[in-house]
Amino acid sequence: MISTIVDPERAVATIFNSAIAAVAIGAAWELGLLDELRDQKMVDVHEFATQHNLDSSSMQGLVTALAVVDVIERDQDTVAAGRLLDEAYRTKSLFHWLTLGSGELFARMQYVLRNENRTGAFYRRDPVAIAYACRDINRQHFDPAFWAAMDGLNYKFHSVVDLGSGSGERLMQLLDRHPGTTGIGIDLAGPAINVAAAEALEHGFGDRLSFTEGDARDISYRDEFAQVDLLTCFMMGHDFWPRDNCVATLQRLRKAFPKVRRFLLGDATRILLDSARSKHAVTGDNVPVFTLGFEFGHAMMGTYLPTIEEWEGVFAEGRWRCVKRHLIESLSLSVIFELEHA
Ligand SMILES: C[S@@+](CC[C@H](N)C(=O)[O-])C[C@H]1O[C@@H](n2cnc3c(N)ncnc32)[C@H](O)[C@@H]1O
Repeated sequence: MISTIVDPERAVATIFNSAIAAVAIGAAWELGLLDELRDQKMVDVHEFATQHNLDSSSMQGLVTALAVVDVIERDQDTVAAGRLLDEAYRTKSLFHWLTLGSGELFARMQYVLRNENRTGAFYRRDPVAIAYACRDINRQHFDPAFWAAMDGLNYKFHSVVDLGSGSGERLMQLLDRHPGTTGIGIDLAGPAINVAAAEALEHGFGDRLSFTEGDARDISYRDEFAQVDLLTCFMMGHDFWPRDNCVATLQRLRKAFPKVRRFLLGDATRILLDSARSKHAVTGDNVPVFTLGFEFGHAMMGTYLPTIEEWEGVFAEGRWRCVKRHLIESLSLSVIFELEHA
């Protein structure tokens, strides 16, 4: 903890510098610096700036911010991996999610907290940036358990729907690995849908893959859902809550997709704010990366986050049966539930 730094002046300076370094990690990833450091070991800052058409003085600021927090080591204009590079690389998309995808929400904290402001569209986030970060969050955190769940399916799926499809990456990977299958992505955010649809076209999926704008909480049966036998939903299931709404949504999904044989529902769960009753709760002196941003951010947005126990208490009423669960401890506390029609 920063409070264990004895000198208060140093401790508070560390808070300030960490706030800038948090932005710099996401930026260095998107600019390609983190990958280059891992591939090349040594990077000349001037050459990197010239190659990528970046402002040289600002680039000095970026590498200094990363050096101050030990993500890189610096010898004049040459930078190399620092002690924390590997861990920062593993968690880079969480920083990107926080500072770019959700940056405006956190920057306007004092405005968002005032009750008089909490009506209409009282906050903004960047859906395209969030989709960008989520691709890597999946790769680093959800994928091993997701593919284990897919490998464990006791049937060959033909048609998949992904709720809250974001970048569309999960569907593209599924269709790539399973020739002859088709997919539909449904997302609330038009900009994310446009990016996903353009990418699907570019990858030549043709009419095997389509994306539509829609609210997963409000889905009813359509002819194109008749043969859907696999349903997936990652990092958005909390939007189904609070409890009564979640039960109603689960029941609606059950009817909208009558032939679904497996529903893979993956999400991060609440372990910090007001979660003392959960057996997975953490205390203030042991908060993992992501947890505070995820839970505080959703509190500001007015989105309820369920604990694992709360999730497990809705499936039966929602007419689903949980046949297996995979816990993922590297992303706060996340979980993939494998559900079947009850
Ligand atoms: C955190 S991102 C995850 C994206 C994707 N599932 C993934 O795993 O990369 C959440 C996505 O869900 C979408 N979303 C949120 N609420 C939704 C809803 N009620 N219906 C459909 N999409 C929703 C958001 O627009 C966003 O693209």
